[in-house]
Amino acid sequence: DWTMAEYRETKIREIRDQVGDGKVICGLSGGVDSSVAAILIHEAIGEQLTCVFVDHGLLRLNEREQVETMFRDHYNIPLVVVDAEERFMAGLAGETDPEKKRKFIGKTFIDVFEEEAKKIGGADFLAQGTLYPDVIESVSFTGGPSVTIKSHHNVGGLPERMNMQLVEPLRELFKDEVRELGRELGLPDIFVGRHPFPGPGLAIRIPGEVTKERCDILRKADAIYLEEIRNAGLYDAIWQAFAVLLPVKTVGVMGDGRTYDSVCGLRAVTSTDGMTADVYPFDAGFLTQVATRIVNEVQGINRVVYDYTSKPPGTIEWE
Ligand code: XMP
Repeated sequence: DWTMAEYRETKIREIRDQVGDGKVICGLSGGVDSSVAAILIHEAIGEQLTCVFVDHGLLRLNEREQVETMFRDHYNIPLVVVDAEERFMAGLAGETDPEKKRKFIGKTFIDVFEEEAKKIGGADFLAQGTLYPDVIESVSFTGGPSVTIKSHHNVGGLPERMNMQLVEPLRELFKDEVRELGRELGLPDIFVGRHPFPGPGLAIRIPGEVTKERCDILRKADAIYLEEIRNAGLYDAIWQAFAVLLPVKTVGVMGDGRTYDSVCGLRAVTSTDGMTADVYPFDAGFLTQVATRIVNEVQGINRVVYDYTSKPPGTIEWE
């Protein structure tokens, strides 16, 4: 039995012991996990930590600005923001295979990191917001054979190539505990309560080829969906909600014209750790309202569907 205040103190000691006077580089994804890890490590070793936020162009609406504000203004933690959108889009061009998309994004993250690490004269440690379920799920699927379902890129692969030791202060924690630790560290509720967001970002919510144009369309639909969820007071009851942009065009009618545009899928699930999940049972009126707004407000989408698949057999993300 331990409290979060004790956990914080213990981890701070451990981080200091592990790192000594070495330099640590930490990749921020905009999510809760990497943010909590970074803030904890900063508390332990201050200036020895450099935080790097890679803007791969696969972020949600205004996400980059939110992270910048949080770190620079709220915590006064120096932050290196790397604008890598063009590089990621160029590499994703023409790629439709889900694992190849993930692998490319993971590899390019490492490349960008290596470049940033070099710029600060090298780092001895790499900090990651790896949680306990990440550790299990990248090894084998719950209760099943040892098969990689998806290559989560924040576990494994990095240290061998980068010749850095890992600092992973959240490795024993589940998501709800990370949120508690975040509150303990003074993160605002609105940030602590954010739904998880995957490292490969919108790329795995755009089945088929990812382009900047499709990312822009998806960002708008996703923002409307989340705004409606927040307005309905449902945000905190949901583990994760997001829009998906399908590589399927269907026919519709608007005014007196024919439309031929993409389909948008909506996903919302409840879960405690992301390893299993149930579909969130919105009422029909809510979904109709979201669908109407998206079709009316987002050019490029003329049809909206709701995903009724639990995990298993579905996964939470579509790729
Ligand atoms: P799936 O789709 O496997 O997702 O049911 C389970 C949870 O993991 C998140 N997820 C990722 N997180 N890097 C991450 O940091 C990844 O590559 C990745 N893929 C999935 C997903 O959003 C859900 O919360």
